[in-house]
Amino acid sequence: MTRSSYKWWQRGVIYQIYPRSFQDSSGNGIGDLNGIIQRLDYLNDGTPNSLGVDAIWISPFYPSPMADFGYDVSDYCDVHPLFGSLAHFDHLVQAAHQRGIKVIIDYVPNHTSDQHPWFIESSSSRDNPKRDWYIWRNGRTDGGPPNNWGSFFGGPAWTYHAPTGQYYLHQFLKEQPELNWRNPEVRAAMFDVLRFWLARGVDGFRMDVIGLILKHPELRDNPPNPHLPPDLLPNDLAARTLMVHNLDQDDVHEILRKMRQLLDSYGDCVAIGELWGPLDRWVRYYGAQGEGLHLPFNFRLMDEVAWTAESIRASVDEMEAALPPFAWPNYVLGNHDRIRLATRFGGQAQACLAAMLLLTLRGTPTLYYGDELGLENGVIPPEKLQDPQGLNLGAARSRDVARTPMQWDASSYAGFSSVEPWLPVSADYETRNVAAQTAVPTSILNLYRRLIWLRRSSDALAIGAYQPVDAPRSCFLYWRSAPSERRLIALNFSDRVQQVQAPGLSNGRILLSTHLDRTDRVTAVLSLRPWEGLIIAPEEGIHD
Ligand code: NOJ
Repeated sequence: MTRSSYKWWQRGVIYQIYPRSFQDSSGNGIGDLNGIIQRLDYLNDGTPNSLGVDAIWISPFYPSPMADFGYDVSDYCDVHPLFGSLAHFDHLVQAAHQRGIKVIIDYVPNHTSDQHPWFIESSSSRDNPKRDWYIWRNGRTDGGPPNNWGSFFGGPAWTYHAPTGQYYLHQFLKEQPELNWRNPEVRAAMFDVLRFWLARGVDGFRMDVIGLILKHPELRDNPPNPHLPPDLLPNDLAARTLMVHNLDQDDVHEILRKMRQLLDSYGDCVAIGELWGPLDRWVRYYGAQGEGLHLPFNFRLMDEVAWTAESIRASVDEMEAALPPFAWPNYVLGNHDRIRLATRFGGQAQACLAAMLLLTLRGTPTLYYGDELGLENGVIPPEKLQDPQGLNLGAARSRDVARTPMQWDASSYAGFSSVEPWLPVSADYETRNVAAQTAVPTSILNLYRRLIWLRRSSDALAIGAYQPVDAPRSCFLYWRSAPSERRLIALNFSDRVQQVQAPGLSNGRILLSTHLDRTDRVTAVLSLRPWEGLIIAPEEGIHD
């Protein structure tokens, strides 16, 4: 199979934009759709001066009271005035497509805002026709909520609604009531939402907490969690039970199959899902024959794995082994819900190695805005904390640290806005910004650019098979092989020089080092500097 027979979302690189924090064009301190349009050339202008990404995924921009910064949607088919209008959105799609950039949007099917007209109707009386669009139950006969489920944002997953004398379910904020996907009218309405955006030309959806949309029909109590985290907070009820009856119900796959059919009828639209869980459950989201999601997000390298060569290789190998032949892998190292990659992995050298790992493994990489600059966690003064997760479960759980404004240049507010942004710009913005890093040939931004453009030009990196190679403990080596070419990737996860024997290589040329300072020839024994990664093209016919 040639590269062109792969889908764009298999060959391509996805870039996540958190729209509040990318570029403010209206001067209110909050990013917007016009701002994204202004920065499209940065993302891909068709030349290696740009990042070179193939698609953007934009986190929610819908009308919303912003209790959870847009993941509480009050109208699925419009744009919040803070971000612009539907006309801006159409312009964005057109401008992105002109540059060959696909547009993926967030779809939030599990819950609406409590201000959504559907919920306002549903909560108006027990016999309202939309009552059953949400999950309402009586309290237990002995008092208290209908079951023992907790909210991921703290407290119980149920809120009592005094005017109608019942509880409604919300596994996030009480302002995010959960839709009842067992009601066919809800399904029809939510499929219409997909149609609305497909007709506007979107290229796919990232589906928020898609494994949660169906619950056990009887809403049974979850079993207790035998492995309670040591730092468990009193109000963290969700962590006290195992997610058995609220997540990953077997019949969710039938809904995903139908969603896929709908997307397929609009062309090459990608279905991506936010999913966790053990490999054997996660892999089912591709569908038994590939009729499910195209890409169930793979968060293992972000969430579950220690930052060592051994554990990373084990995670990649296990995932590769679990995939049926039709399933295309993918990797995520950062997003708006986790601390910054550079902070998690221990610094800039590690962030550079992470970039090479992410962009050379087999499968679609999703980058998070700002990670290409090596952004570290923002420092948010207590009075400026915004994220409800942090406000409810303690500052250590705040996601604000990964949502600080994009750093474009050294001007005030980092070129993000002309006024004070909604979250503080990080203190390092005068040196860590797009303009400054563009001027430094060895910057992490230039590394990302080189990696992405190399991947774009290489069959082996874009679509080649993955073959790990045994290596010393702190190194991770693998071949990527397409019929036309092979590339060896060698990553040193240690702060020591490592001499590594590279099986299958006699002579080669370094195409890229994470240090961006060498393109020398190598032989079968590689010398890797601390935290250095190399991409090597074998030169089969050359001998010393
Ligand atoms: C997952 C989203 O990524 C997160 O930001 C949000 O708070 C929850 N879903 C609830 O929608």
